[in-house]
Amino acid sequence: TRPILISPSILSADFARLGEEVRAIDQAGCDWVHIDVMDGHFVPNITIGPNVVKALRPHTQKTFDVHLMISPVDQYLEAFVAAGSDIITVHPEAGPHIHRTVQHIKSLGVKAGVVLNPGTPAKMLDYLIDDVDLILVMSVNPGFGGQSFIENQLRKIEACRRMIDKSGRAIHLQVDGGIDFTTAPKAIAAGADVLVAGTATFRGGAPAYADNIRKLRGG
Ligand code: DX5
Ligand code: ZN
Repeated sequence: TRPILISPSILSADFARLGEEVRAIDQAGCDWVHIDVMDGHFVPNITIGPNVVKALRPHTQKTFDVHLMISPVDQYLEAFVAAGSDIITVHPEAGPHIHRTVQHIKSLGVKAGVVLNPGTPAKMLDYLIDDVDLILVMSVNPGFGGQSFIENQLRKIEACRRMIDKSGRAIHLQVDGGIDFTTAPKAIAAGADVLVAGTATFRGGAPAYADNIRKLRGG
């Protein structure tokens, strides 16, 4: 069985105390920190930019898993790398040349991820799988925390797991949206190894974070 990593989405943190919140999830045992970047154009919500990523960087040494929901995206990659991102994940719908964007991310020395929206088939990955470090299956339509898990995405997670195993490459399979104590085991059983969770991590405030993270991991 593969190790399960938890990447709390700070979208559900208290934005007035973000540094403190990032330290709290670090101490509570999270593996990565998931940072949702939204532009009010590619998705109907506006969140944070590279300055906030940079401001958070001194607060933890954990992997910054940066999910870009912005269009155009290419012109902002350098800024997010300079701000301290470790993994940058992009949507094929956000630009005209996803293959080029993946190469661009890798040329900047960080890991590259590709995201599949709920309506996007796994087949999209056929000619990207040789280059990506992470595949993210969205189990909600991107834009907001607190939405319900879309069950038919489990089949896509299974399909991606088969593609990854066939490739023989070490590629993370991440799931994002509506992950809670009920849906986490389903995503893991379908083959995911990185779970993003906003609402389910931050529910109950800092004293609950360690328990929430442990339960999401299945412990
Ligand atoms: C949605 C974001 C998610 C979201 C997850 O567009 O990509 O990361 O914050 O939130 P929950 O876990 O509350 O569904
Ligand atoms: Zn996300």
